[in-house]
Amino acid sequence: MRKVLIATEKPFARQAVDNISAVFREAGYEMVLLENYKDPGDLLKAVEDVDALIVRSDLVNKDVIGAARKLAVVVRAGAGYDNIDLEASTEKDVVVMNTPGQNSNAVAELAIGMMIYMARNQFNGTSGTELRGKTIGIHGCGNVGMNIARIGRGLQMKVIGFCSYVGMDRLSFAGVKFVDTVENLYSKCQYISLSIPANKDTIGMVNYDLLSLMPAPAVLVNAARKEVVDEASLLRMFEERPDFKYLADIAPDCAGEIAEKFPGRYFFTPKKMGAQTAEANINAGIAAARQIVAYFESGETKYQVNK
Ligand code: 3PG
Repeated sequence: MRKVLIATEKPFARQAVDNISAVFREAGYEMVLLENYKDPGDLLKAVEDVDALIVRSDLVNKDVIGAARKLAVVVRAGAGYDNIDLEASTEKDVVVMNTPGQNSNAVAELAIGMMIYMARNQFNGTSGTELRGKTIGIHGCGNVGMNIARIGRGLQMKVIGFCSYVGMDRLSFAGVKFVDTVENLYSKCQYISLSIPANKDTIGMVNYDLLSLMPAPAVLVNAARKEVVDEASLLRMFEERPDFKYLADIAPDCAGEIAEKFPGRYFFTPKKMGAQTAEANINAGIAAARQIVAYFESGETKYQVNK
């Protein structure tokens, strides 16, 4: 009997776990749950005898891959797979997949929600601003970026996109104008929303040179990864541009300094929560479970990311 471990330091909604377990019950697989764990040692122990693993942002490093003697497939129930050591996985013939698009609406709603919250002065009763008529730049035009574009259009924002992953010839979305350089994007947009992955090309790429191009009042929205924003540049922007605000799904390392020096100009979630909706958990969780069954039963590797 195949054994699958669901290891989620940040648990799925209960309904998602029930739905995932139904997929495995039907397939005749055993499912075990490791939720809310604090010690990485617990994951090392739990992976020892499993054939497949489902994770969220949980760290699947070389040690985890090494400890999992029977592991054949890991599915990241979500989009970004920067938490998984692809090289170590490939070396051990472990297939790694993600579930693109399954949680992207939830992340997009969080990004827009943070924008509204800040435009209304954190609902403190004072007069704020509206999003209608403002320009938002979508940096990264994958599933999350295009959901933000869709909602932005619904709010009657002007939407501009830039993407170095999806080729310019394949970029098309009703009402969205695409530009061919990242500098062009930042220089036109009062709001910039990041939906780029964290990898060797993007870590630290949102730097002072880019941010300082933004027209005032400038708001940077990050529902992607904290590592893509260069923190020295962030602090410099806060210092030099009193109009600059930063909204992020998970605080930067310099959050303490920002809180102390620049009150009212930032918002950080206490825990990464873009994908923390029942719907996103159900969609991504079921997709992950089905991908595992399809892999074992028919060798399906459509969403493999370490090919
Ligand atoms: C993703 O990459 O899918 C999102 O950042 C959500 O991550 P999470 O599953 O850890 O909430």
